[in-house]
Amino acid sequence: MIHLPTAWPSWSPRGPRFERTAGAARRAAALAALALCTAVAPARAADEPARLRTRALAATCAHCHGTEGQAVPGEALVRLAGLPQDYLLSQLMAFRNGQRSATIMHQITRGYSQEQLETLAAFFAAQR
Ligand code: HEC
Repeated sequence: MIHLPTAWPSWSPRGPRFERTAGAARRAAALAALALCTAVAPARAADEPARLRTRALAATCAHCHGTEGQAVPGEALVRLAGLPQDYLLSQLMAFRNGQRSATIMHQITRGYSQEQLETLAAFFAAQR
């Protein structure tokens, strides 16, 4: 019969001293992050729902245009981040009303209101 230990010994290839200092560094970093959050939270709280709605809307484009429009260099994806806002909106409207021919975007843009397309154009233009 094979006996397996009920509790595995805690072992680190870098030794217990490293584990202690790494733990302390992680706790300090977590505290610093928490302090930063509480500092900016009051300013953010009011527009948080609108910001989340915009991000959720933009996430619907992420499959093909990358997270926040940041297409990976060398990929076939079209990068949207940082394109001029009026260019983005004019292209979205052109797709929607058939002025610009497309394989996909003419269908996608019909699923959004004019206001949503304006929000998307502003969001992607603001990404760097
Ligand atoms: C299923 C993949 C897919 C999704 C999802 C998608 N796109 Fe596209 N997008 C494309 C493709 C492909 C093109 C190139 C035109 C075409 O053939 O449809 C394009 C082109 C564009 C362009 C023109 C870019 C340029 O340089 O002229 C804009 C603007 C754009 N998309 C915005 C969006 C927005 C905003 C969303 C989210 C609402 C979105 N796309 C979602 C695939 C997608």
